[in-house]
Amino acid sequence: MEILIRESPEAGCLLGARIIAGLVRRKPDAVLGLATGRTPLRLYGELVRLHREEGLDFSRVTTFNLDEYVGLAPDHPQSYRRFMDESLFGPAGFDPARTFVPNGVAADLQAECRLYERRIAAAGGIDLQLLGLGRNGHIGFNEPTGSLSSRTWIKILSEQTRRDNGALFGVAEEVPRHAITMGVGTILDARRCLLLAFGPAKVRAVELMVEGAVSALCPGSALQLHPRTTVVLDENSAAGLHHTDHYRWVDAHKLDWQRSD
Ligand code: F6R
Repeated sequence: MEILIRESPEAGCLLGARIIAGLVRRKPDAVLGLATGRTPLRLYGELVRLHREEGLDFSRVTTFNLDEYVGLAPDHPQSYRRFMDESLFGPAGFDPARTFVPNGVAADLQAECRLYERRIAAAGGIDLQLLGLGRNGHIGFNEPTGSLSSRTWIKILSEQTRRDNGALFGVAEEVPRHAITMGVGTILDARRCLLLAFGPAKVRAVELMVEGAVSALCPGSALQLHPRTTVVLDENSAAGLHHTDHYRWVDAHKLDWQRSD
């Protein structure tokens, strides 16, 4: 894992946006895996700015989102499809036909999961998968103790996750109990992973993911097995790590071609 600690979530999001923008400039038809939630919002804002002010072209990029709530139609205000359309796809000029989010109201949800895997394969696989980290260590909606080799499937959300996401719904009770999510195995197939985690609420999950044993108790720890994962943290989320001197040393001594941005 490459661990990059920045002074603030703002700086971390700008770094993440530079990494994604660099990929899209080198490969205009890149395949991106994307996340929702609070963490990547500023990063998406920066991609929108790069599109509007610097002409960064996303029209040939294909995207696959990590997850969607079961039972929420694409136009539901809290659906992840709506979140993506409003925060990124519309304002940054993505081609709607190339943006994929699992369909949480598919008549046959299991067939929808298999179709999602086939679509990712047909697109040539994911070049870069953007990830957030749940307070309990989840990636996508792969909750603790789930299989570390799972594929896209219907998962049951933990009470903690439903509480954490409840703010966006107004009432935690209204958060669906199930979601379609890429599996940990699906995520590990991406050619590169870029995980962002900011703020004091993520301290324990970051510590387990980066310095703990690979364990289904912290699904994010499976990224230790991935050949190219970059983890972007702020000072708050990195506060529980024991080897920050080493991560900063490595960051400061990279050769030019080794730098992420
Ligand atoms: C979102 C997702 C989740 C979030 C995680 C962190 O598509 O898959 O794993 O990344 O729950 O959420 P925030 O960013 O709201 O703290």
